[in-house]
Amino acid sequence: MSDIEAIKDKYLAQVASASDGDALEAIRVAALGKKGEISLLLKTLGQMTPEERQTEGPKINGTRQAVADAIASRKESMEADVLNAQLATEKLDLTLPPLSAPKGSIHPVSQVMDELAEIFADLGFSVETGPEIEDDWHNFTALNIPETHPARAMHDTFYFPQTDENDMPKMLRTHTSPVQIRTMMDVAKRSSGEGEPIHIIAPGRTYRSDSDATHTPMFHQVEGLVIDKGIHMGHLKWTLETFVRAFFERDDITLRLRPSYFPFTEPSAEVDLGFTVEKRKRIIGGDPRSENGGWMEILGSGMVHPNVIANCGLDPEVWQGFAFGCGIDRLAMLKYGMDDLRAFFDGDLRWADHYGFDALDVPTLSGGVGA
Ligand code: PHE
Repeated sequence: MSDIEAIKDKYLAQVASASDGDALEAIRVAALGKKGEISLLLKTLGQMTPEERQTEGPKINGTRQAVADAIASRKESMEADVLNAQLATEKLDLTLPPLSAPKGSIHPVSQVMDELAEIFADLGFSVETGPEIEDDWHNFTALNIPETHPARAMHDTFYFPQTDENDMPKMLRTHTSPVQIRTMMDVAKRSSGEGEPIHIIAPGRTYRSDSDATHTPMFHQVEGLVIDKGIHMGHLKWTLETFVRAFFERDDITLRLRPSYFPFTEPSAEVDLGFTVEKRKRIIGGDPRSENGGWMEILGSGMVHPNVIANCGLDPEVWQGFAFGCGIDRLAMLKYGMDDLRAFFDGDLRWADHYGFDALDVPTLSGGVGA
């Protein structure tokens, strides 16, 4: 066997037994690198006679090619081995159920607030908000609430400590009615006392020093306010009727307006909803005068007192309106069936899971108002 044949066999054997990529690379350098054995042999061709070159040239070149080919195919099969080993250990089982990610839910109060905004938007109302820390003027005085009114008592309202005698007492608002004051004052200012029509609802947090199964120190109210020319109780009744029918998704709901008293409305009316008992469950709707029917109080309302309109800088001879105030938590309880208000604010996730709404699957109103 010629030298060159021996060299070829040596490298082919080494390539065949190389255990990894590094070993293969070392063989390549030793054989075909700049100073590799076969590369040096190729250089000797220059010094040969043409005859020698004719016989040696193809042998040396053939050896170079054979070793290069062997290295390339060994490398390819090593890569395939690595991939196969990976595929064998890292199995991807597409039939496994996905890991479940904890999912939050929409609180019933947020859900009802959205429903309110949606229904009243259909009636042309916009949503207004105001601060939860109010002063005496916006929460009481401007609303025509006399100094002697029990709501002003220290034990009914959360007051902030007064640091300066001359400052107005500050408190957590006891209702969302101060938002009607702020809105009317803004309109009076913007129109230099001329006035313009107002149709707003003001949902938000309110605070009172109360706590039992149907009262929590923090709760939610929605206030409604309409100011325009020639507004009367008929507009109030129609608006409330349209609202409750859309909200409870029943057309057979009757309202009863009972004379009442609020300092900021005159006349004032407490509003009751007609209910019936079906299969031991109270259902809003049906005939309240039937054997298993009755009335439940749901909100307070009335025509905005002329003093309140004047307090805000508008002329009560020109502008009239109605207002109503309603507990949002109570609306949620009546529609979705919770029986303890305190659970709304306990932060118990089991409660939230049970009564909360899926963000991607919230109940939509059956076509809104007038559908
Ligand atoms: N602000 C009243 C309350 O909290 C509710 C109400 C609002 C009554 C507007 C009449 C008109 O009790």
